[in-house]
Amino acid sequence: MAKITYSKQTFDCKNDESVLECLSRHGVELPSSCRAGVCQTCIVKATDGTTPPADAQTGLKPQLQKQGYFLACICKPKQDLSFVDPDDNALPQITATVASKICFNKNIIRLRLTPESEFNFLPGQFINIHRQDGLVRSYSIASLPQEGYLELHVEHIENGKMSHWLHNQVAMGGKLNIDGPHGDCFYIDDKPEQNLLLIGTGTGLAPLWGIIHDALSKNHKGEIHLFHGSRSRDKIYLLGELKKLAEQHSNFFYTACISGEDNQGFNAGRANEVALSKIPNLDGYCVYLCGHPEMVNSTKKKAFLAGASMNDIHADAFTLSNR
Ligand code: FES
Repeated sequence: MAKITYSKQTFDCKNDESVLECLSRHGVELPSSCRAGVCQTCIVKATDGTTPPADAQTGLKPQLQKQGYFLACICKPKQDLSFVDPDDNALPQITATVASKICFNKNIIRLRLTPESEFNFLPGQFINIHRQDGLVRSYSIASLPQEGYLELHVEHIENGKMSHWLHNQVAMGGKLNIDGPHGDCFYIDDKPEQNLLLIGTGTGLAPLWGIIHDALSKNHKGEIHLFHGSRSRDKIYLLGELKKLAEQHSNFFYTACISGEDNQGFNAGRANEVALSKIPNLDGYCVYLCGHPEMVNSTKKKAFLAGASMNDIHADAFTLSNR
C-alpha cells in the first residue's frame, strides 16, 4: 500500500484506489469534474523527488509532464507519492463574457462566450468553467474559431450546481473564468476523402456540431454521417438546422434517434446501435463519439471490432450526474 502526502498530511492509499478517491475518503477534496482523466481539473504536482505513474500524466502537455504534474483521478500509485496544488500558470485561466444566451428547449441552452484575450481552439475541444467557489465543469465547443465566440450547449441537470447556475443565474454580460482548450476530439483535415461517422447523445451534439461545420467549411469530400440520440424527444435539438444542412450538402447524412417509447417520426433505438446497424463496416472510417460515458466506452470497442483503426476513434466522455 502506497503512502500519499498532501498539505502536510499523509494517508494510506489502498490498492486500486486513485489519489482523488483516497483524499476524498479522508475528507480532503480536490477540485474535480470528470473523474476520468479527461478534464484536467484535478491536476497536482509531484514533489520531494517522488514520481507519479506515467499513465497518470496522460493527456498533459509534455512541459507539464516534465515538471511532475499528474491527474489525481487516474493516479493509482504503486510507490509513495508527495504532491502539492498546481502553480497558477499550470492551467492558466482567462475571462470570457457571456455574449448571448438562448434556449434550444426547456432543458438545453446555448451560451456564446467572448474570450477577453487570445484563445486558440479547434471545434470539438472543450473548456473548463471555474466558479468562484471552486466548482469546475467541462463543456465542449460547438463554434468555429472564425466565428469569434465559444458556443456551448448546456443541459440543465437535476441537482447540477453548475448547470443550474448557468441556466438561472448567469446573464448576458456576465463574466466567466475558463481554461483550455483541451481534448483531441476535433476534425483533422489531412484525409478529405475519408468517411466520418459521428455518434452523440444529448449535448454530446455540441462538439459534433463543431466538427461537422469545420469539416464542411474545409470542403471535406468523404461522407459525413451523424447519428444523434436521446431517450426522449425533448433532448433532441437543432433538428431543423441539421435537416437543412443535410439538404445543402450531398455528403452529409443526419439520423435522429429516440430510444424511449415516444419515438414516432424518429429512428427507434439508441444512436450507437442504429449507427452500427446501418454502417456495419467501419474500415477506413474516422469515428467521433461524444456523450454518455457508457455509450462512448462501449461504442469505442464496437467501432474497433467493426474495422475502424484505434487511431481513428476520437472521444470525449463527460459524466452528466454532477453538472
Ligand atoms: S477530474 Fe481528473 S481529469 Fe477530470
